[in-house]
Amino acid sequence: MKVLVTGGAGFIGSHILTRLLADNYEVVCLDNFDPYYDPLTKRKNIEPFLSSSYFSLIEGDINDPSLLMSAMEGCDYVFHEAAQAGVRISVEDPMKPHMVNASGTLAVLEAAVKCGVKKVVNASSSSVYGTVRYLPFDEDHPTIPVSPYGVSKLAAEHYCRVFSELYGLNTISLRYFTVYGPRMRPDLAISIFTRAALDNKPIQIFGDGTKTRDFTYIDDVVDANIRAIKKGSGVYNIGGGHHISILDLAHEIINVNDSSSAIEYYPPVKGDAEHTYAETKKAQCELGWKANTSIYDGLKKYASWVRE
Ligand SMILES: NC(=O)c1ccc[n+]([C@@H]2O[C@H](COP(=O)([O-])OP(=O)(O)OC[C@H]3O[C@@H](n4cnc5c(N)ncnc54)[C@H](O)[C@@H]3O)[C@@H](O)[C@H]2O)c1
Repeated sequence: MKVLVTGGAGFIGSHILTRLLADNYEVVCLDNFDPYYDPLTKRKNIEPFLSSSYFSLIEGDINDPSLLMSAMEGCDYVFHEAAQAGVRISVEDPMKPHMVNASGTLAVLEAAVKCGVKKVVNASSSSVYGTVRYLPFDEDHPTIPVSPYGVSKLAAEHYCRVFSELYGLNTISLRYFTVYGPRMRPDLAISIFTRAALDNKPIQIFGDGTKTRDFTYIDDVVDANIRAIKKGSGVYNIGGGHHISILDLAHEIINVNDSSSAIEYYPPVKGDAEHTYAETKKAQCELGWKANTSIYDGLKKYASWVRE
């Protein structure tokens, strides 16, 4: 079985690759090593795979149709992880997330139809919900994104749906709720807070810390992706079920790391959603998926990885 992982050198993509190689899939990784954060980190993420005869790396952009076709040739499944991630950067530069996340996903879907791919598993985001009408979010909750990033991920989901309806391409979109764990992106709160806590430096909170987030451990996200190859279509929430405030998260990280960090408050940032909280019954019923890692265990595992 041959599989393409777009964005395979990134945080989530590289974990999916680890699992696929362990399961003896032949895998292709397509990544342009975008400099949004240090490309060397991404090179390190995939370093362990380079010696495997089951692994091949294609460096380039998902918006390059001929490169995409050659990466996808002979592939049964596609895990589409490549994106311009990050809510805050999308407020500063809305065009880039549109080009990568909306246009790029369209390019991936077009190539998938041409290459006869059996299913595309699309990485979506809790950011599609945006404005809260009720909590927790189920998949029928209105989607009113509050950032250009959220809009671009919602557009990608709709392209997936339309490609299923018009061209018979099997697609599934997994709405991840803030993913964390080893190799996580350096721009996310758990990463920034943990590094500050380990150095006993102040933890900086933007706003008053009452915004809440549902955090999902990376192993649970990989598990959802593997299940999504065989089961499900449409959209599914993939959330850890830990609905905690940013302030409580900071305290938990201070405790887990036995740190003496103080907490400092800064003005809130535009584009950040007020709350995210996943109802995951649909994923439980249709994919047989449920998050297994508690926030406490996940934070401990992550902190010990950072220390190493
Ligand atoms: N990490 C989270 O908390 C989170 C939450 C919700 C959704 N997501 C989604 O999950 C997916 C993976 O996120 P991540 O956290 O691993 O991000 P990441 O930035 O670590 O990984 C994305 C990868 O895509 C690559 N990439 C970017 N633009 C590309 C292009 N034009 N062509 C080819 N490759 C390109 C990057 O170089 C990077 O390696 C993304 O679709 C993201 O929107 C992530």
